[in-house]
Amino acid sequence: MNFIALFLSISLFSLISGAMAGCSVTDRAALLDFKASIVRDTTGILSSWVGTDCCDGWEGVDCNPQTGRVTSLQLERPHGVMKGTLSSSLGNLKFLQVLVVSGMKQITGTIPDSLSNLVHLTQLYLEDNMLQGRIPSNLSQLRSLMALSLNGNNFTGELPPQIGFISGLTQINFGRNRLVGAVPVTYRNLMKLQALDLSNNQFSGGIPSFLGKFQNLTLLDLSNNRFTGEIPVSIWGLSNLLDLYLCNNMLVGQVPSEIGNLRSLNSLSLSGNLLTGIIPDSIVKLQKLWYLNLSNNAFMGLPSGVENGLPSLLSIDLSYNKFQLGIIPNWIRNREMRDVHLAGCGIKGSPQAFAKPEALNSLNLSSNFLTGEINGFLTNMTNLVSLDLSKNRITSFISQFGKQTSPNLKWLDLSNNGMSGQIPSSISNLTGLKRLDLSRNQIKGIIPNSMGQMASLVWLDLSHNQLLGKIPETFAGLSKLGHVNFRVNKLCGEIPQKRPFNVFKAVAYAHNLCLCGNPMPPCKRL
Ligand SMILES: *[C@@H]1O[C@H](CO)[C@@H](O)[C@H](O)[C@H]1NC(C)=O
Ligand SMILES: *[C@@H]1O[C@H](CO)[C@@H](O)[C@H](O)[C@H]1NC(C)=O
Ligand SMILES: *[C@@H]1O[C@H](CO)[C@@H](O)[C@H](O)[C@H]1NC(C)=O
Ligand SMILES: *[C@@H]1O[C@H](CO)[C@@H](O)[C@H](O)[C@H]1NC(C)=O
Ligand SMILES: *[C@@H]1O[C@H](CO)[C@@H](O)[C@H](O)[C@H]1NC(C)=O
Ligand SMILES: *[C@@H]1O[C@H](CO)[C@@H](O)[C@H](O)[C@H]1NC(C)=O
Ligand SMILES: *[C@@H]1O[C@H](CO)[C@@H](O)[C@H](O)[C@H]1NC(C)=O
Repeated sequence: MNFIALFLSISLFSLISGAMAGCSVTDRAALLDFKASIVRDTTGILSSWVGTDCCDGWEGVDCNPQTGRVTSLQLERPHGVMKGTLSSSLGNLKFLQVLVVSGMKQITGTIPDSLSNLVHLTQLYLEDNMLQGRIPSNLSQLRSLMALSLNGNNFTGELPPQIGFISGLTQINFGRNRLVGAVPVTYRNLMKLQALDLSNNQFSGGIPSFLGKFQNLTLLDLSNNRFTGEIPVSIWGLSNLLDLYLCNNMLVGQVPSEIGNLRSLNSLSLSGNLLTGIIPDSIVKLQKLWYLNLSNNAFMGLPSGVENGLPSLLSIDLSYNKFQLGIIPNWIRNREMRDVHLAGCGIKGSPQAFAKPEALNSLNLSSNFLTGEINGFLTNMTNLVSLDLSKNRITSFISQFGKQTSPNLKWLDLSNNGMSGQIPSSISNLTGLKRLDLSRNQIKGIIPNSMGQMASLVWLDLSHNQLLGKIPETFAGLSKLGHVNFRVNKLCGEIPQKRPFNVFKAVAYAHNLCLCGNPMPPCKRL
């Protein structure tokens, strides 16, 4: 009885006040059409779409309680898939303001033209599905649209110029599709843009200089396309820009001193272009820059007259340029950076130039002309995880690894140097080491027994040295090893007859004096 009374009073209340109108019949039918066009749903969302009131308990659906019209449809899942197509009936949800169908992975087909009827739409996100075809030009009828993202689909063709007339757009994301052609000139009207992501497509032509007029732009990502020509000077005037990614295009020319105007910049990647010249001193005005990637260009010089620029820098990649540094400028070496990637920069000097590395996480100085020794270099490197000094001219080996030596070091590559002397037995103090490469040096003496305590090792390369004696029996404890290489040494004696040593391929042991036992020929018993 009580339930019936409650039900009656609620219905009466809604009738009188008009405040709780149920879901509009039109909108419910449109949603059910959408549901019917999804043939498989492992997200579990659509199983909640039952009963007559779509405004009540239908996951992802929100209504205006006064009118019962659906105002927001947000279907978003990192896990699970929906397979099917986008029903054109979505165009009947006339009062929709927000439409999100993202991360469904297996929704195919095109964007229905009917979506251009949703004139109240302010946000349209159709990310990470498998939608294809062209971006419909009549989306330009969505004059209230502020955010448009079609990131991570399979759209082809050129950008519709008409989108340039949706002057309220603040966010555009067309990244990760197969779009081609130039950025239409009509896009110069999009003065309110805060984020423009066209990355990972096949766009071509020049970077339009009108982008430099979008003073509220905070993100500009044009990376991984085929843009050509010079970077327009206007781009360097975007003083609110936080992230600028132009990497992997075919851009030419130099970086002008106006780069100093990008006062808000956090991260800058110009890698993978054909840029040349000298990085201007004004770059030190980028007080907030923490990520700088200039790799794979033809840059020839770095600022050197500045002592302590770029105070926020944590990650720097200058690899594969035409730098002839001689020594590392102070503004790099005095910084407490986390990731330093200077592989292949033509750096001379010694690793000791990085004297204040307390914060350093990874240091890659591979393929330079570093000489001298690395003794003491690793001491107090408390955060260092990865050190790559391969392909240099380092001659003397570390003589003592103490307990304070880089306690977090996991990756040590000293291969392709001229290191002589012996492997110190204290190397076993690097207890967390997973990957050790000492190949292609002139290391002499025996392999220390203590290395058998380096139980974290999964990858060990001692090949192309002059090591003598046996592979220590203690190595039988290195059960995590998935790769070893002892080739081209002067080792002799029985290989530890235990997994994984007896099952590695014979090539890992070839060209030694007299290694024997599986996988090599049996040892000759006396
Ligand atoms: C969208 O544009 C196409 C071609 O431009 C046109 O045929 C169609 O009628 C338009 N649809 C709507 C709903 O405006
Ligand atoms: C993208 O669309 C093309 C046809 O236009 C199709 O051959 C290809 O398999 C699609 N790729 C994905 C990932 O859906
Ligand atoms: C830029 O942002 C400011 C502050 O949010 C705002 O007042 C201004 O109207 C915006 N400019 C444009 C062109 O949208
Ligand atoms: C720099 O950019 C290249 C892509 O051009 C990338 O491969 C590399 O990992 C980046 N370096 C760092 C340190 O992020
Ligand atoms: C160091 O840089 C080189 C060249 O970019 C690369 O091949 C190597 O993997 C890097 N080392 C580490 C430890 O990341
Ligand atoms: C390492 O740190 C300890 C304690 O902070 C300090 O006493 C020692 O001098 C440092 N060693 C080196 C080589 O910097
Ligand atoms: C490890 O380092 C300590 C000093 O920190 C030293 O006393 C010890 O001998 C080292 N271990 C080996 C195996 O050399």
